[in-house]
Amino acid sequence: MEKNTVFYEPGEHKSQGLKYNPFKALIAPRPIGWISTQSVDGVANLGAYSFFNAVSELPPMVMFAAAPDARENMIGHKDSYKNIIDTGEFAVNIVGANLLAAMIKSSETLSPDIDEFAYAGLTKKQAKLISAPLVAEAPAQLECTLYDTIKLPGTDTRDGVMLVLGRVIGIHINEDIISDGLVDNKAFRHASRLGYQHYALVEDIVIP
Ligand SMILES: Cc1cc2nc3c(=O)[nH]c(=O)nc-3n(C[C@H](O)[C@H](O)[C@H](O)COP(=O)(O)O)c2cc1C
Repeated sequence: MEKNTVFYEPGEHKSQGLKYNPFKALIAPRPIGWISTQSVDGVANLGAYSFFNAVSELPPMVMFAAAPDARENMIGHKDSYKNIIDTGEFAVNIVGANLLAAMIKSSETLSPDIDEFAYAGLTKKQAKLISAPLVAEAPAQLECTLYDTIKLPGTDTRDGVMLVLGRVIGIHINEDIISDGLVDNKAFRHASRLGYQHYALVEDIVIP
């Protein structure tokens, strides 16, 4: 027997009794790209992006989607995006359970002259191939160079989201998350984003 379902077109979820837009709760869990950049003036920036993923293995490439900046009425760009365009570089820091609070704090919308590592109480680790700093407390970090950007369509009130595609040119992995030659996602309880303000942690791994 067919189950009862709700159907709505984008923007109409409340007509079906859904309190908040459930789109992100359906495309879940999403990996979190915790992106570090540096401005041309040398100010370090951090921000989390859950519209993020690996898009190619050989060569390794990642992408994330930067929405327009709330400080500029949704028509300007976020600091991470501006820094990447200016410098051509960024890093992806991997998030475990013990970094969730710092990751959220570092993602607040702050003035571009504030060092978001210091603001979130994090230590900088020097990258080998790029000038943007890495989060020393992260279990792994990817050094990336900008490959391309694509602008997605906007709406009447907001500019389009910018897709950022990056080439991974260097990978750091803490030895304490490597077990028998494999990365153990359970060792650092790899964090990902669900819908709303909900997160998921890797606590159970199955090999079907
Ligand atoms: C878990 C999490 C996921 C986020 N995902 C996104 C995203 O996919 N795209 C986006 O534009 N902003 C996202 N944000 C908000 C950005 O992190 C935030 O706007 C950014 O850090 C602003 O800082 P900046 O202007 O200094 O770059 C997310 C925030 C959190 C906490």
